Amino acid sequence: MKIVTVIGARPQFIKAATVSRELRNYDDIEEIILHTGQHYDKNISDIFFEELNIPAPKYNLNVGSGAHGVQTAKMLSKIEDVLLEEKPDCVLVYGDTNSTTAGAMAAVKLHIPVAHVEAGLRSFNRQMPEEINRIVTDAISDLLLAPTNNAVEQLKTEGRKDYTYFVGDVMYDSVLYYKGLIEKRGKPDLIKGIDSFYLCTIHRAENTDNEENLKSILSALSQADKTIVLPLHPRTKHIIKKLGIKTADNIHIEEPVGYFDMLSLLAYSDKMITDSGGVQKEAYFLQKPCVTLRNETEWIETLDNGWNQLCGANLELILDALDYEPGMQTNLGEFGDGNAARKTIDLIKEKYFKK
Ligand code: UD1
Ligand code: UDP
Repeated sequence: MKIVTVIGARPQFIKAATVSRELRNYDDIEEIILHTGQHYDKNISDIFFEELNIPAPKYNLNVGSGAHGVQTAKMLSKIEDVLLEEKPDCVLVYGDTNSTTAGAMAAVKLHIPVAHVEAGLRSFNRQMPEEINRIVTDAISDLLLAPTNNAVEQLKTEGRKDYTYFVGDVMYDSVLYYKGLIEKRGKPDLIKGIDSFYLCTIHRAENTDNEENLKSILSALSQADKTIVLPLHPRTKHIIKKLGIKTADNIHIEEPVGYFDMLSLLAYSDKMITDSGGVQKEAYFLQKPCVTLRNETEWIETLDNGWNQLCGANLELILDALDYEPGMQTNLGEFGDGNAARKTIDLIKEKYFKK
């Protein structure tokens, strides 16, 4: 059988790497990778293909950056051309970016079934473009692969029970798979000479496109009691430059790092400060307290015992959260057993393999 995998943004390369590696164990499945080109800088795109041995995309649509409508429309039209050419048995999409929705929309209109990895996540904040992408993709996909039981329950309440399967979280699979390698690699060069620090990422629209929020977050970071290591997403970098913001000396702004460096930095850090979806989970997987620069999270499991604290862009809440130490262990059982990728493929085969 033939699967077209549609990916385009950093977290999707990381998620797809695990499934793609597993897919290569199946002689009867051909995977064709389509990169929309939503992310194109080397350090948020190519680096992951190299590090994680993801096969080179057969198609790169090079859509680049743009307003939501423009970017999604370009993807939609170009993905349609590829699907008409390839005629796959199934299209596989990941997460909640514009590439996810475009992949799903293009496929369903051609009557090609769509499997959605990371289905059923909701922040219940419709101001987030990602929330719209999740709702649309889950409404039109044919196979909803839920990473947690909370996601399963959510899909049931939306009337999608018959399409929903719990498989676990492919990002948890990935952390388990690479944990040994990360430990062996030791301390990344970026933090040689730094003993104690908070790791931080910022890229969410509500924090970057809102000057007040961005300044409040940077001010909180400047008042933190430790060095902040901040591998910065290009979106945020452009905006800081455009606004002419001067950041404090304790904030070490770095280029985005590869996946292995990111997990190592997290492992060596004292706490994580982030507005990323995936990074909140990784902090939880590695038992690092997380201060989340958002008012809500779709990964509600991570809130258990204060491991993840929602602070939005509020300076006082961020500084208070940095003082807090959770007591109990994190509950990793919520994210499956490390075999989400294999379960995903088995379900796809069971449903769409034409003998
Ligand atoms: C996108 C996803 C978001 C995801 C994030 C992962 C949507 C709506 N958003 O956000 O859900 O969490 O990816 O990182 O799909 N840019 C570059 N170089 C690049 C890519 C982008 O400089 O290679 C800059 C451009 O100025 C661009 C901006 O970043 O306008 C935003 O890029 P875009 O892909 O639209 O959204 P992200 O913020 O990356
Ligand atoms: N990540 C990375 N390098 C970085 C920042 C993040 O490899 O400099 C990884 C991170 O470990 C996680 C994924 O990127 O696996 C999360 O992607 P991102 O934060 O861009 O998107 P989100 O998860 O919020 O959609």
